[in-house]
Amino acid sequence: MGTKLRIGALISGGGTNLQAILDACAQGTIDGRVVFVGTDNPHANGLERARRHEVPTFVVDYARLIGDYRTDPASVKLPPDADLDDLARRQSLLPAGADPARIRRFLHTRVAAEAALLAAMAAHPFDLLVLAGFMRNLTPYFIDRVNTDPAKPRIMNIHPALLPAFPGTDGYGDTFRYGAKVGGCTVHFIDYGEDSGPIIGQRAFAIQADDTEERIRQKGLDLEWQIYPECIQLYAEDRLRVAVRTHHLPHGGVYRRAVVEILGEKTPGTR
Ligand code: GAR
Repeated sequence: MGTKLRIGALISGGGTNLQAILDACAQGTIDGRVVFVGTDNPHANGLERARRHEVPTFVVDYARLIGDYRTDPASVKLPPDADLDDLARRQSLLPAGADPARIRRFLHTRVAAEAALLAAMAAHPFDLLVLAGFMRNLTPYFIDRVNTDPAKPRIMNIHPALLPAFPGTDGYGDTFRYGAKVGGCTVHFIDYGEDSGPIIGQRAFAIQADDTEERIRQKGLDLEWQIYPECIQLYAEDRLRVAVRTHHLPHGGVYRRAVVEILGEKTPGTR
């Protein structure tokens, strides 16, 4: 194996997924090292985990920036290379029919924050960016500047539900409240939508009638701590390929689906 995968991480909270990744790197089950941990939340407990592993950290305080924009929009400077009209057309985080002023406000604050993230990240070259409980959506401004090679996506996310069910900020809570019989977690590459990119891996667990939300969350996290390092190691081994397959329907229709192929994976049932 060549040089170690350089992993950048963005977090917002406790950072137990970050811890699983740091531990997997230390144990060699990920052939990589974490080169920075960034956060939108100055109080994220995960920052302490990074410091314990002597990983550089930085904060871009999204909440303060959004507050500053509310008080005085002109005080929040956009990077010179941001084209909000173009981003408004390409983004799919807010519905296309939403109030254009709302879309602009959203993009202005997020792009300003993302420019600060990119500036901080520039000091730490990386191969893969992992979102590990990062609770902010990323716009095409940021995504395009990280994914410079269209054939090689570089941003992974872990989501606490079996996507495409229950996207958003409370996957386990939504799964539990719905009364689902199965819950799970999903690792995927990110695209311009919310929790909508090509799926790399999923794990599921059963939900009993008398389970509690807390138990569901714990069952899910236990699986997250296994699957995220596994998917990162597949990336380190350069075994992930996003392929678009075209399917023809009997009556002439066509649809395309993006799948992540895992190179060298055995088809179940074969030897
Ligand atoms: C995890 O359950 C992760 O799947 C979820 O936040 C939690 C973070 O925990 N992420 C999202 O909901 C992203 N939309 P952690 O900080 O202990 O890793």
